[in-house]
Amino acid sequence: MGRDNGKGGLRVGVIGTGHVGLVTSVAMAAMGHRVTGTDLDAERIDQLQRGMPPFAEPMLPELLDEGRASGRLSFSLDAASAIQDADVVFICVGTPPRASGKANLIAVERSAIEVARHATNPVVVAEKSTVPTGTAQRLRALLRSQRPDLRIEVVSNPEFLREGRAVADAMQPDRILVGAETEWAFERMRRLYEPFAAGGRSIIETDIATAELAKYASNAFLAMKVSFINAVARVCERSGADVLSVAQIMGSDPRIGPAFLRAGMGYGGSCFPKDLLAFEQFANGLGYEFPLLREIARLNDEALEAAYQKVEDALWVLEDKRVALLGLAFKPGTDDVRFSPALALARRLLREGVRVVGFDPLAATAVKAELPEIELATDPYEAAAEAHCLVLCTESEDFAALDLDRLRDLLAQPVIVDGRNLLDPARAEAAGLSYYGVGRPAGVLVPRGDDDEERS
Ligand code: UDX
Repeated sequence: MGRDNGKGGLRVGVIGTGHVGLVTSVAMAAMGHRVTGTDLDAERIDQLQRGMPPFAEPMLPELLDEGRASGRLSFSLDAASAIQDADVVFICVGTPPRASGKANLIAVERSAIEVARHATNPVVVAEKSTVPTGTAQRLRALLRSQRPDLRIEVVSNPEFLREGRAVADAMQPDRILVGAETEWAFERMRRLYEPFAAGGRSIIETDIATAELAKYASNAFLAMKVSFINAVARVCERSGADVLSVAQIMGSDPRIGPAFLRAGMGYGGSCFPKDLLAFEQFANGLGYEFPLLREIARLNDEALEAAYQKVEDALWVLEDKRVALLGLAFKPGTDDVRFSPALALARRLLREGVRVVGFDPLAATAVKAELPEIELATDPYEAAAEAHCLVLCTESEDFAALDLDRLRDLLAQPVIVDGRNLLDPARAEAAGLSYYGVGRPAGVLVPRGDDDEERS
């Protein structure tokens, strides 16, 4: 996969080796640049120096090995070695929400101070962390005041990586977005992204404020699609319509598109919940109320509550019942449990005295650290054994292929709450399972009046 871009590549420093930083590092090295990643976390750097990926992500181990073997990828605890001589330094540190919801930018500021301290060459500082509009201006002012002697330009270069396919997204991005102020900075970013843009993808060049805002707006819009279809699912459950068909019909209009219209237990992860809050705070700070953003988050909570109510409806008395949750990460293909709907459901059930057993193919270690009260099973069938209800929490293909007869025999009570509409309700019911979907006739909880009998 590795290739040289014919110009010997640029020297790239990456501050922060979390999801975004590490994936950026391996992708840049694979494309022929010489990359040094740095982090404050000594254990993480030690792991990376030994070639051990700190989280699960397809293709990451291979590209990590390849980068280290080629000599183009290294890691250091010493920020200076990532920054000095660099042509481009990426800031990929966390921007967690503060109590108010505003993004906490302390790590971003600290990174800029490190750049000012160690830079030796004219350098572009590229923000990859999702930050409120105006952050680049602040960084520029900070860098200019600390290093008036050196050309240091700040650009905004947001990432649109999806966890679970972050490396593929980084290698073949559907868009490359660069917000900058000078031709010099654009030119350097063009050289950096030239090998990525080779597949015909062009770089979208714009001003910094637009690039920063486009990232927030994109994530908020995607979250809105999910919350919209979840709200439609609530209406389907009350009307007897099928949300899957509704979504398919909506999605066949190219102006709407089929993506992100899967009704379920709500979105989670490190981006949507945090970015929605930060976007709202940012707009409010500018004197603009944007209540739609809060409503998106409220509908997301409601989607989880709907799943909880199905479990409660199925079990009647919750105390001492055993509930099995399949899929504990916030989505399949990752071990990331941040804002995981499954863990939120687990917490809610545990509070009601339910015994919760869970299975996740990747996230067991993360779950143990985050919510040790969950008993962990090593496969879905072990989780189902003696449970009074089985909940499918992530949209994993593996769960769609489960042996329903075997599950029925194992369960103490044959109930499935299909939080992601993975199963065919007719097949589940034919296997003798009582089935609750999302926004589908078999998941209806609300009494429908006179024609109830006719339908059941
Ligand atoms: C997201 C954006 O897709 C990415 O561009 C951005 O850079 C970071 O945030 P990610 O958080 O990795 O990426 O996950 P994504 O695949 O987008 O899913 C987000 C959540 O929405 C998941 O919890 C998923 O289960 C949920 N979802 C997604 C739905 O419930 N229904 C859908 O139709 C789509």
